[in-house]
Amino acid sequence: MSIWGRRKAMDAAHRPGTATLRRTLGWPHLVALGVGAIVGTGILTLTGVGAGLAGPGVILSFVIAGAICACAALCYAELATMIPASGSAYTYSYVAIGERVAWIVGWSLILEYSVVCSTVAVGWSGYFAGFMQAIGLPLPAALAAGPDAGGVFNLPAVLIVAAVAGLLLVGTRESATLNAWLVLLKLAALVMFVVLALPHFDAANFNPLMPYGFFETVGPDGGKRGVMAAAAIIFFAFYGFDAVSTAAEEAKDPGRDMTIGIVGSMAACVLIYMAVAAAALGALPFGDFAGSPEPLAHVLRSLGQGQAAKIFGIVAIVALPTVILAFLYGQTRIFFVMARDGLLPERAGAVDAKSGVPVVTTVATAAVVAAIAAFLPLGEIAALANAGTLAAFVAVGASVMILRRTAPDAPRRFRLPAAPLFGWGAILGCLYLFLNLPTGTQLRFLGWNVIGFLVYVGWAARHSRTLSRHNDGA
Ligand code: ALA
Repeated sequence: MSIWGRRKAMDAAHRPGTATLRRTLGWPHLVALGVGAIVGTGILTLTGVGAGLAGPGVILSFVIAGAICACAALCYAELATMIPASGSAYTYSYVAIGERVAWIVGWSLILEYSVVCSTVAVGWSGYFAGFMQAIGLPLPAALAAGPDAGGVFNLPAVLIVAAVAGLLLVGTRESATLNAWLVLLKLAALVMFVVLALPHFDAANFNPLMPYGFFETVGPDGGKRGVMAAAAIIFFAFYGFDAVSTAAEEAKDPGRDMTIGIVGSMAACVLIYMAVAAAALGALPFGDFAGSPEPLAHVLRSLGQGQAAKIFGIVAIVALPTVILAFLYGQTRIFFVMARDGLLPERAGAVDAKSGVPVVTTVATAAVVAAIAAFLPLGEIAALANAGTLAAFVAVGASVMILRRTAPDAPRRFRLPAAPLFGWGAILGCLYLFLNLPTGTQLRFLGWNVIGFLVYVGWAARHSRTLSRHNDGA
């Protein structure tokens, strides 16, 4: 045992007697799961926030955040095919580094997966409230938003979380098929946006490119500004491909399907995002849509495309829940694996014999996600989700490089070329983005990990039942 704690064997999830999930997913389901998780509140709403922080230079923020996420995605692809077990970054760090680091990563992933669900539920609720208003059935103000936005309790956010959890309880394959259709709808809306906005492209809208500079500058509210500060927020738009890796134990052919699912969904989204960002920034001066809660619909309206803007809003309402679905699904699988390892109570790992779904975990996770969405402010929870994700990506970059040394001959269906370049790209890029997050978020992240440390020392470490390492070089 190293100072990082016990290490898990690479094949631990596949030993006889270990609780398993059903293999029902092919690569098209996995690409759809990835795109469904990636395209959401980030591109639909944070494009405006990013433009406010960086001006037209937000296009560079997209390139930087996308490049860092691409490094992380490639690392995920190698690990997901090498260690095809649920649990994502948590499991990889358990195998590569040790239980103590795995715990920190698992604890950080709770921020990523659960808090993203809450964030997107709050974003969805904004679109939904706007839609109800538009059709003459406005929601009572007290029930339409949380306390920070003038309400008391965000009811639509709670209901959408409950609906998605209900869908997951029906079964993985059913959820994945519906998800695939909704993803197509979401992509069609983004393509429609590009087709309608691009003809209005005016290069003058990119001048000056970086009105607030490249590195961190201080805005009038005392907050961080500039291309890198925007990149730390825009980062939210890119992740989600990692949710694919949580499905490793449910993939029919994990070696092939994981690579296609992770790299394919990430590559597709980088291309779409570049087109959408360029079309939006070229069509209008950034100040026109920077403050809008629905920037892309706002651009369409300003271009005289009112009908298209309405369709865009409806598609957001129908399709945004795919992000919640993918992350809620991922969170329950991570809890499932942590419980199987003894680091969470056993009940959290129980799988329903008939549906193959971890029922207790799904219901409990949904309840916490809904409670956060009901009361907490959108901006803060989005930044916190980014902090958790950045921590996980750092661990994944490190795990790839460590396993290249400690298990050089272990089979890798996808072998990352120039591993140190991408591994270090993920580690340093994510650390730098973390430094550019708001200071309050950094402190909250630290506080969350102090709680995690206490839980680990007080309970989890004593209940761990990690299977010891095999002599497989892992
Ligand atoms: N990438 C996901 C979104 O933008 C989290 O909603």
